Amino acid sequence: MQRSRLDKFISQKLNVPKKQVRLMLAQKRVKVNGNVADSIDLIVDKFSVIECDGEILQANKASYIMLHKPIGVVSATKDDKHKTVIDLLDIKDYPEKHLLHIVGRLDLNTSGLILLTNDSSWSESLTLPENKVDKVYRVTLENPIASDELKQQYLSAFAKGMYFAYEDLTTKPATLQFISENEVLITLQEGKYHQIKRMFGRFQNPVIGLHRLSVGNLQLDSNLLVTQSRQLTACEVREISVK
Ligand code: URA
Repeated sequence: MQRSRLDKFISQKLNVPKKQVRLMLAQKRVKVNGNVADSIDLIVDKFSVIECDGEILQANKASYIMLHKPIGVVSATKDDKHKTVIDLLDIKDYPEKHLLHIVGRLDLNTSGLILLTNDSSWSESLTLPENKVDKVYRVTLENPIASDELKQQYLSAFAKGMYFAYEDLTTKPATLQFISENEVLITLQEGKYHQIKRMFGRFQNPVIGLHRLSVGNLQLDSNLLVTQSRQLTACEVREISVK
């Protein structure tokens, strides 16, 4: 359920006519998020805690998690061959982990910040191209980028965008920051299939290491070791895509 009127929700859940729901509300037998609810047109969503006569009808809690993904773990909820990011979450800490989905996948051999949630509106807002949420990666390259002239060629090609014939699209402008001859920070606002590897591939420069450092305003905690995870704070959830 995304959003629904309270009377509709209760009527469907308990299989009773709306007229009866109105009576239940008037008798103050229904609570939403701990408060007595007596209005039929109160809007509830999948994260509203709804009780009737003390019985919980819905108690889904929104969950937002950062995980430090290691290399060799797949960004999927199920996989026959590899361990998944969901497998890394301890069931004791995340009893509802089966309800989570991944916000923006990383390749098998990419490490770094991965986000998981059960809130599809939040994940959509982070992945919609028009919301222009920056994703920053540290890229380790096989071949050095040493001269200013070569750096300039990379900068302008990444800023201009590259045409990917398979998808028939041109990548959005991406920025580069050179950290050393073989290390670059790249900022992207989208996530096409193997995008970074393919972009450096245009320069015949294989990516030998890829690590995501941040999504929007949220950086991977420096003290979160590989495979570790934590819940985001309400403030982090709210502020992640604020410009
Ligand atoms: N681009 C890639 O090539 N791989 C990733 O995992 C993310 C972006």
